[in-house]
Amino acid sequence: MIQEDTGKREESRRRKEVDPIPFIELPESVLSRFSSGFEEFDRVLGGGFVPGSVVLLGGEPGVGKSTLLLKSADLVSASGKRVLYTSGEESQSQVALRSKRLGVKNPNLFFLGSQNVNDIIDAALKIKPCLVIVDSIQTAEDESLPSLPGTPAQIRACATKLLEFAKENDVTVVLVGHTVKTGDIAGPRLLEHLVDTVLYFEGEKTNLHRIIRAQKNRFGPTYEVCVFRMEDEGLQEVKNPSQEFLSERNPENPGSCVSVCLSGTQPICIEVEALVAPSVYGAPRRICTELDQNRVSLVLAVLARNVAAGLETKDAFLKIPGGFKVSEPAVDLACAVALVSSYRQIPVADDLVVIGELGLSGEVRMAPRLEDRVKEAFRMGFSRALVPERFARGESRKNLVGVRTVEEAVRHALSNRD
Ligand code: TYD
Ligand code: MG
Repeated sequence: MIQEDTGKREESRRRKEVDPIPFIELPESVLSRFSSGFEEFDRVLGGGFVPGSVVLLGGEPGVGKSTLLLKSADLVSASGKRVLYTSGEESQSQVALRSKRLGVKNPNLFFLGSQNVNDIIDAALKIKPCLVIVDSIQTAEDESLPSLPGTPAQIRACATKLLEFAKENDVTVVLVGHTVKTGDIAGPRLLEHLVDTVLYFEGEKTNLHRIIRAQKNRFGPTYEVCVFRMEDEGLQEVKNPSQEFLSERNPENPGSCVSVCLSGTQPICIEVEALVAPSVYGAPRRICTELDQNRVSLVLAVLARNVAAGLETKDAFLKIPGGFKVSEPAVDLACAVALVSSYRQIPVADDLVVIGELGLSGEVRMAPRLEDRVKEAFRMGFSRALVPERFARGESRKNLVGVRTVEEAVRHALSNRD
């Protein structure tokens, strides 16, 4: 009888699901989010944690994943909510040491030292938290499978179980994911498809700054970033990244040029530092860590052809202080200006920011959301922006310097100091 009932219910549920609804009639669900305790981290999440969602936080060992999540867990529990932090990597005493360092003293924050995914779920069902942290998915294990933790089959099985648990109980689950040498999260690619949000910790563990970037977000904008500083008492939020990244800049140094890049919805001022030096080996070296090597090669080739003959035989080093990774073409022109500034040993005008993409024949091209970038530069105290001519054309503002080609850009940027 019971079986019959279940069968009927199953049948009616199935029938309902196959009835398509017009798009305009789709019900709009209002997401009730809760804060991670960090304003900036909330912004990257799209406005806080969403109950029932699964977040994957990837990063190299030692970058600060456990530190950030433990602090966030503490802040969430301070608001009266229950939080379960599980670790399959560290012993109770190791976690206790970190929690002491971070000043954790909330009775609503629970710890479970286990690798077993079923134990984790049982513990969560018992204490009914709103947030469960699993540190890490590579050490999680489902004992019904014969394979070892960290294998694709185990990672897939554990992630699927935790996902089902999250959806069924409306609990937010955060999975910590280790990255491999290429920067990808270890395990099957499917893991990133399964979860709702994928965040990456950028930056070296030796750097002062750590950057979290949203790679995928079903509940918010992607490529949103937030910046933290690693200090003795854990990670501190950086509320004004532009100021932070420019704080150690000396505008008198040749080879330094400021640009504005776009991270998600946020424009951030960054410094591009270049050093052009005689090459002592046969093939000149081009070294850059935070920028895309191919784009830098393109910029160097365009410069050698149009502006700085002889540059192709020199070593060139480019970096973005602060460890902020930039892959957008909008910083091409700033790289070009910084390189020529170092090559000729003339500093860039100190009131100037440079924004634009470079074409193969040396033309300066438009970048997305120029207005927002320029605004951020002026907010930071710069008084002139070197921008593509097409953008400056319609505007009669004196503080916009429109340029058509890389030669023109270099001439303007270095002219005040000639
Ligand atoms: P951790 O969170 O253990 O990294 P992950 O979980 O990503 O492997 O962070 C480890 C590093 O952070 C470690 O090198 C020490 C440093 N750290 C601080 O500088 N200050 C602190 O308050 C804490 C807790 C860690
Ligand atoms: Mg850790």
